[in-house]
Amino acid sequence: MKQPIQGFSKLSKEEKIDWLTQTYFNDAKAAKETLKTYWHNDATLQKLHDEFIENTISNFFLPIGIAPNFLINEKLYSIPMAIEESSVVAAASKAAKFWLNRGGFKTEILGTEKIGQVHFMYHGDVEKLKKYFQIVMPKLMHSVSEITTNMEKRGGGVTGITLKDKTDKLANYYQLHCTFETLDAMGANFINSCLEGFAKTFKEEALHFSEFSEEEKHIQIVMSILSNYVPNCVVRATVSCPVEDLNEDKDISPQEFAEKFVRAVNIAKIEPYRAVTHNKGIMNGIDAVVLATGNDFRAIEAAAHAYAAKNGSYASLTHATIENNIFKFWIEIPLAMGTVGGLTKLHPMVKIALEMLENPNAKQLMEITAVAGLAQNFGAVRSLITSGIQKGHMKMHLLNILNQLGATEEEKKYFVNYFKDKTATHSNVVAEFEKLRSNS
Ligand code: MEV
Repeated sequence: MKQPIQGFSKLSKEEKIDWLTQTYFNDAKAAKETLKTYWHNDATLQKLHDEFIENTISNFFLPIGIAPNFLINEKLYSIPMAIEESSVVAAASKAAKFWLNRGGFKTEILGTEKIGQVHFMYHGDVEKLKKYFQIVMPKLMHSVSEITTNMEKRGGGVTGITLKDKTDKLANYYQLHCTFETLDAMGANFINSCLEGFAKTFKEEALHFSEFSEEEKHIQIVMSILSNYVPNCVVRATVSCPVEDLNEDKDISPQEFAEKFVRAVNIAKIEPYRAVTHNKGIMNGIDAVVLATGNDFRAIEAAAHAYAAKNGSYASLTHATIENNIFKFWIEIPLAMGTVGGLTKLHPMVKIALEMLENPNAKQLMEITAVAGLAQNFGAVRSLITSGIQKGHMKMHLLNILNQLGATEEEKKYFVNYFKDKTATHSNVVAEFEKLRSNS
């Protein structure tokens, strides 16, 4: 049986790899070599990556691709996408081109409010707590002035604190529900620092509030943390055109296409099993931009899915209508993104991604990202209601299968051509590959 290791974090990188490969790998030498192959040649850059997290042993590469020709609010963008799934970038590019000639994408920021909460327990008279809250409020604000001064100078800061009584759900449980404007920062550090400041002052000042009984004075702070649910930090992106302009596919009339499209979106509005996959497709586009621009994709995912369930049942994040012969398709999604702080100035690829987007501010990045999600969903639903998803998917996946099989460049060319007018499945690619190899 393997033994736990003590002091692992204190080992050098080389020592960590030695322990790891000798403990878990049949061929320790080969595993070590693979890990080292992915080290960066430039030692300074490698050190930068080593220091992003703890216990670094190597780097994990994802491709970064470009989806060009996105016309967003009359401006042309090439969108960077970091993602491993084949056909996502191709689908985005295709959707961008489709809408380029139909007015492009229009966007609107519906809000930028961030949220954080101090969760606490109070045993006593709620009216006294309310009075205490009113009295302590200026002190709460004052106690974080060192943290908020710079943000306030730029027009942001703490925008509100309310006391919330949650005792109907959990005995003695209350919150300080705080709202923030964090401008171009995602704001997690700013918000959490403010919350911890509020919590400390709120607890300490209670000890001196003369109207509290001894028990009431002892407010118990449970935790202070931002909420990744940001239903008022939302962007809308829209495409629309006359139905007759939806004339790309020869096998289906524009009218039939529009109606089938709206029906597919409406299914995702009422059927959670479909909605989850529908939204997963949206997140293919969103996450790829979020990752490429150094933002927190877990936060974005958590918020998006909570928002999708905001009416009590999980539903589509996109919407589609036909009114007065106009097809309209739009997304509304919360996106707490930043263009300063975090990885944005640190990771060279993030800097490149932001520069190719002409260094957007946070609102513009929200808009671009929402557009990538909408485009992705348009591409997926279009395929689903026409040719089906597998044709395009397997075409892209063909190269992955061929790479797994160790195909040469010449063989890859041969098979791309061979499967041009056939559906490639994993088994028939393998069968055809083996046939070719045994013949040669
Ligand atoms: C695959 O990654 C995403 C899709 O399943 C999305 C969808 O079904 O809408 C194609």
